[in-house]
Amino acid sequence: MCGIVGAIRANHNVVDFLTDGLKRLEYRGYDSSGIAVFDGEKIKRVRRVGRVQLMEDAAKEKGLFGHIGIGHTRWATHGGVTEPNAHPHISGGLIAVVHNGIIENFEDERTRLQGLGYEFESQTDTEVIAHSVKHEYSLNGGNLFEAVKSATKNFHGAYAIAVIAQDNPDEMVVARMGCPLLIALGDNETFIASDVSAVIAFTRNIAYLEDGDIAVLRAGGIEKLIDKTGNPAQRKVKVSELSLASLELGPYSHFMQKEIHEQPRAIADTAEVFLDGGFEPENFGKNAREVFNDIDSIKILACGTSYYSALTSKYWLESIAKVPTDVEIASEYRYRDVIANPKQLIITISQSGETLDTMEALKYAQSLGHKHSLSICNVMESALPRESELVLYTRAGAEIGVASTKAFTTQLVVLFGLAVTLGKMRGLVSSGQARAYLEELRQLPGSIQHVMNLEPQIAAWAQKFAKKTSALFLGRGIHYPIALEGALKLKEITYIHAEAYPAGELKHGPLALVDENMPVVVIAPNDSLLDKVKANMQEVGARGGELFVFTDLDSHFNEGEGVHVIRTPRHVGVLSPIVHTIPVQLLSYHAALARGTDVDKPRNLAKSVTVE
Ligand code: F6R
Repeated sequence: MCGIVGAIRANHNVVDFLTDGLKRLEYRGYDSSGIAVFDGEKIKRVRRVGRVQLMEDAAKEKGLFGHIGIGHTRWATHGGVTEPNAHPHISGGLIAVVHNGIIENFEDERTRLQGLGYEFESQTDTEVIAHSVKHEYSLNGGNLFEAVKSATKNFHGAYAIAVIAQDNPDEMVVARMGCPLLIALGDNETFIASDVSAVIAFTRNIAYLEDGDIAVLRAGGIEKLIDKTGNPAQRKVKVSELSLASLELGPYSHFMQKEIHEQPRAIADTAEVFLDGGFEPENFGKNAREVFNDIDSIKILACGTSYYSALTSKYWLESIAKVPTDVEIASEYRYRDVIANPKQLIITISQSGETLDTMEALKYAQSLGHKHSLSICNVMESALPRESELVLYTRAGAEIGVASTKAFTTQLVVLFGLAVTLGKMRGLVSSGQARAYLEELRQLPGSIQHVMNLEPQIAAWAQKFAKKTSALFLGRGIHYPIALEGALKLKEITYIHAEAYPAGELKHGPLALVDENMPVVVIAPNDSLLDKVKANMQEVGARGGELFVFTDLDSHFNEGEGVHVIRTPRHVGVLSPIVHTIPVQLLSYHAALARGTDVDKPRNLAKSVTVE
């Protein structure tokens, strides 16, 4: 969480870049923000609680100007949401720092620095970085690079930092350990950011830092870079292909709305790898054939929405490929005694590729002797794919709304492709069957587009949901994880309490919650469990619960007292969970609109969760 930016621009004011970049990084945290620039005489700082816009207005009012500066948008971890806790933090009026990550030993460091006479103005872990760098800087006679190098030796934890010094206004020092950081190179201007979205309006030439890197930057580019061993290193400059349009709202009111509607395109783009190359292991990496031949089972580790895509894929992996598959929440896995199996493929799924719990779970698995890993990720060059043996990127494009939508459905496309690939390799999927699956994938964007046409009906339902305080979501089999995803979407953007159950589990407890005030959403496509789901719905109806059923055209549900039905145009067979995700996304979106919540930036959340 948190986003950092920085710039040295020989011929331009940096303030426009800093505020524009922070707005683009607001998805990473949005409780407060700040910038610090050297104005030719002094480092000047503006910080505000609330959205970047408020801080930008204040910076404009103050007429802030400078050729070098740093900025930060915060998701509070250490210390409340207050202006003194907002970054940048400044030590002795001399050293300004922005930081993404967590310094785990900050209490010890704070005591040490207090012993040296430093006074703390905030409750943050970051302030120890500012004082520690300042201390080293004073000791070494003003060498910022050496100061950052010495100071970072004392830190345990994760960080991406950018530092400037008032008496050294032409250079910036940056360091990365465990949190993303990139350098973007323009024409006599150099930028840094947590994410490429912050810089591509200015330049597309990007060098990604690696863990342990420390670099000295000037307007002309990277002056010096050392790696974790302390040796000089170079990082490849790549040209980013991210489209600027994908970062803009265009005709939409919210990014979530835009991203829901982008799904036909995102799914088509992601499916292309299979449509062009077939269900071949090489889609997952050069040595994937060898790896897939060497495994006897799969363990998937993920968090939140990505965990639900993992749960969905277990049904495909076990039915199509007959590979025993276990799915676990990453933050649980990483702290339990695990019986490791070197023949088990560890799959991590993550939109951002930098979720700390998932990353640490992967490292834990590797430390236990799991040698094979595959990452399914949406962000190029992010931490998880870099740590994994194999990778297949979803091609959802930038996902900015905090609630994940297109990342989820594109993850499902990749996971389905994996199941068929493994099934084919194991002789369980004939080439005829593989062709049929390809055809289903080809048709999928069209089916999703049809479901979008149901939006007005779903929006009408959402008006009713908006007045409720709780909701239940039910599904069975492969549609149970879709019920889970529906409940998560509803709670995170509308703040309505929502829970999901496998429909057959209702009678074992949750049925006690059902009365005329409880809306019950049922995902009930025309699959082999439909009759069972119908029986479970009778249990709800008999207790006065109001049923909202998403089903297919051919599943013969009757509307009636307390039973509302929306039919997706046709049953799409094995890919049905992907299609049935769209209605629950739209339901949450419209319920949030009706409640007037902040759809793209729901309270207390951030897009990229790089803390425990
Ligand atoms: C919910 C949501 C979160 C993320 C979770 C994992 O809409 O977005 O639950 O899915 O924080 O994030 P990634 O996929 O980036 O690892």
